[in-house]
Amino acid sequence: MHTTDKKTATKDPGLGQLPPGQPALRSVPMPSDSNHNGDIFGGWVLAQMDIAGSVPVAEIAEGRFATVAIDAMRFHMPIFIGDLVSLYADIVRIGNTSVTVKVETWVKRRATREVVKVTEGVFIYVTINDDGKPRPVPRRAQSAERGG
Ligand SMILES: CC(C)(COP(=O)(O)OP(=O)(O)OC[C@H]1O[C@@H](n2cnc3c(N)ncnc32)[C@H](O)[C@@H]1OP(=O)(O)O)[C@@H](O)C(=O)NCCC(=O)NCCS
Repeated sequence: MHTTDKKTATKDPGLGQLPPGQPALRSVPMPSDSNHNGDIFGGWVLAQMDIAGSVPVAEIAEGRFATVAIDAMRFHMPIFIGDLVSLYADIVRIGNTSVTVKVETWVKRRATREVVKVTEGVFIYVTINDDGKPRPVPRRAQSAERGG
């Protein structure tokens, strides 16, 4: 699980260094991912964030899960074609049937090599059974979160 250094990584978006640890996902957007302004389409970014957030959930879900909600979504700055996009995902809460993941998107600008946090949001996933109904998050994950 990625552990973000909150003191450095959640400051106001701006120039800086990538957060410590491994991103859940990295990508480079293409011209086909852009909107009418020529910047990257927000829907592309959201999809990448949903995928990144699902990575730590997949590690603990032991089966199917689905995205139920996205909270506190912010687009701080645009992403440009060719930027190196790194997405960081941290589990912040494990409930009975839900797992809450904080996702941050950082880019290294292709042109200037500047590093900037461009989006953040909180993604909530629900572990589901074969009928698509909520099922408890496996106990192993819950006791690991408690340090057991
Ligand atoms: C996910 C789904 C099975 C959940 O079923 P549900 O009957 O709505 O679930 P519940 O009301 O029992 O809530 C299940 C958990 O999700 C949480 N939850 C539900 N809605 C939430 C919301 N808007 N924000 C935060 N948490 C939420 C509940 O608090 C609960 O967590 P807990 O068990 O840890 O306390 C159902 O909503 C569904 O199938 N949604 C579509 C999922 C999908 O297709 N996602 C892809 C994105 S398009």
